[in-house]
Amino acid sequence: MSSSSTIPPRPTTPAPGTGSDGIGPSPVAKPLNPNSPFAPRPVATPPRQPVSLAAAIQPAKPAAPGAPATAATPAAAGGLASSRPTLTPAQFTFFEKLIYELSGMRFEANKSYFLASKIDLRIQALGLKDFDAYMAYLNTPTGRTEYGHLVDEVSINETFFYRHEPQLQAFREHLLLPLAQARRTQGQKNLRIWSAASSTGDELYTLALMLRDSGLWGKDLSWDLVGTDICHDALEKARNGVYRRYNIRNIPPALLQSYFTHDPLSAGGETWQLKAEIRSSCKFQEGNLMDNARCAALGRFDFIFCRNVLIYFDEPSKEKAVQHLANNLTEDGYVLLGHSENIYSQRHILRPVKEYAAAIAYQKAPPGTPKL
Ligand SMILES: C[S@@+](CC[C@H](N)C(=O)[O-])C[C@H]1O[C@@H](n2cnc3c(N)ncnc32)[C@H](O)[C@@H]1O
Repeated sequence: MSSSSTIPPRPTTPAPGTGSDGIGPSPVAKPLNPNSPFAPRPVATPPRQPVSLAAAIQPAKPAAPGAPATAATPAAAGGLASSRPTLTPAQFTFFEKLIYELSGMRFEANKSYFLASKIDLRIQALGLKDFDAYMAYLNTPTGRTEYGHLVDEVSINETFFYRHEPQLQAFREHLLLPLAQARRTQGQKNLRIWSAASSTGDELYTLALMLRDSGLWGKDLSWDLVGTDICHDALEKARNGVYRRYNIRNIPPALLQSYFTHDPLSAGGETWQLKAEIRSSCKFQEGNLMDNARCAALGRFDFIFCRNVLIYFDEPSKEKAVQHLANNLTEDGYVLLGHSENIYSQRHILRPVKEYAAAIAYQKAPPGTPKL
């Protein structure tokens, strides 16, 4: 898969195993009945085998008759009912490599249970029998349409409004106001902000609220606010703008009052919905930080927030993402990363230029800066 490849668009989940995908008949209903032949059953874990990437993306061997999506836990082996989905080392390698190829996210072996439980949700949704059947499905031509669902399922979308507020205050005081003033002086009236792994929109909407709050919205300046993420489910939630208490807990009360509609009795529990005037000022679209063409098509930004996503990448993925951030940045624009993220090895691409108590701002490194 090349760096400019994209995860194919997500159609409605096709029902695999209908004959046309070559993996044989398969139930489409979620196998809830523990006596069902499709219900998971314990199996011994086979010995570890090294698997190359080429091998990992080859069609999987047909599942052994009766092979399950779950393996015995000690409790289950001891005769108790509890068991949880468990990947064999070869299965883990297959999924780990595929997810890495699709997203740049690197899952270490100690995340095997996490991956297994997430992938098991896809197996249930498709009505497949086990991990091997899912691997076989992913390797069919129609299985490509499943890639997006797989990445959605394993994405970690943790976010909330006004996340790491001291950094946001430093951004407002020391970067936003001066650059807005500089743009006025230059006679440039449009500024652009990119939330580069926007998840459910909390980060980009926070910036929209901050612009309102600081009086920079709607006077002599116009703003493009763009959020991108690889996860379709998160983008859908971002567009809807409906949040629970956990996500909105840090919003200053006056802003919450002005820009949200509170529904204490909504069907799924208490919610707050952002008003249309804020929602319509933010555009959300699919964007993979590993995808050269998609990133280039976004154009250049004055501020880029890329917070709490680089931590999921290994060094090559991080380098690719950081290169895209630099390519998409104006000459005097700034990049802000997550609180605990560092790009020390990529300082030939983006270098720290301003350091405040709670924030480091990065700008493009001068052309020709050597990699150390
Ligand atoms: C922990 S959330 C961070 C959300 C927000 N930036 C924040 O700091 O609150 C990480 C997000 O990165 C997204 N992500 C993971 N890999 C990505 C990729 N290759 N390109 C774009 N987004 C990605 C995930 O879908 C997830 O929504």
